[in-house]
Amino acid sequence: MAKITAGVFTSHVPAIGAAMDMGKTGEPYWQPLFRGYDYSKQWMKDNKPDVIFLVFNDHATAFSLDMIPTFAIGTAESYQPADEGWGPRPVPVVQGHADLAAHIAQSVIQQDFDLTIVNKMDVDHGLTVPLSLMCGQPPPSDFHWPCPVIPFAVNVVQYPVPSGQRCLNLGKAIRKAIESYDEDLNVQIWGTGGMSHQLQGPRAGLINKEFDGAFMDLLISDPEAQAAVPHIDYVREAGSEGIELVMWLIARGAMSDLNGGPAPTVKHRFYHVPASNTAVGHLILENN
Ligand code: DHB
Ligand code: FE
Repeated sequence: MAKITAGVFTSHVPAIGAAMDMGKTGEPYWQPLFRGYDYSKQWMKDNKPDVIFLVFNDHATAFSLDMIPTFAIGTAESYQPADEGWGPRPVPVVQGHADLAAHIAQSVIQQDFDLTIVNKMDVDHGLTVPLSLMCGQPPPSDFHWPCPVIPFAVNVVQYPVPSGQRCLNLGKAIRKAIESYDEDLNVQIWGTGGMSHQLQGPRAGLINKEFDGAFMDLLISDPEAQAAVPHIDYVREAGSEGIELVMWLIARGAMSDLNGGPAPTVKHRFYHVPASNTAVGHLILENN
């Protein structure tokens, strides 16, 4: 059967992707940020998954105000990097896992979560920047991501957004779905976005290190308590885009300890300010 081996959590700031694409990772501004992912890139090589289930948010790229799915699962064979206004990022096409994705859709919908099925979708920085941070830039001679990816898009851009509690519960349903797939696959689940940031209005530039630290503490040690925090607290404390953090609860809900198993091991924890307008947070939790 398929099993979830680890949860990976990381911010997705678009300027990080631009820094990698333009060869600026060694510049003094960026060096401390990328140093925090050196461990992670080696860990990915040592723990290469068969599939990544990647929870992310689209930024009005594939979707728009015309259509706003709360939860959307990618069931396509592949996904093109999106053109977000400066041309698509020079990164590989994302290969999907259509069969596992269809199985998860079937199982999760039968567990009473209404997913939107997406058979065609371009993927923006919300998905490609976490891949770049964790996998590095694939060289031209070997231009692909290390494994297939199932994109799972969450609406955290246009109100109303899903609650943390619903996200945690959805993660538990996704775990059941993955672990009932009849093939020995090692699956990682990634929760992306955050940490505190606000991009517009009078509070633009807001960062809240205390909130971010407490969020990571509770996400590790008591995710049920973190799930009880209402969406308005994220917006008030962590900024209008800080609400992206509820996506981390989907990945956390899929881990063993929330489903009758032992607590995960914290393999890596990193926090850095600033990256563009954003605080960057990152965790790797291994299931035991
Ligand atoms: C920035 C952060 C984001 O999460 C995003 O989607 C776009 C921009 C930023 O800090 O620049
Ligand atoms: Fe974002």
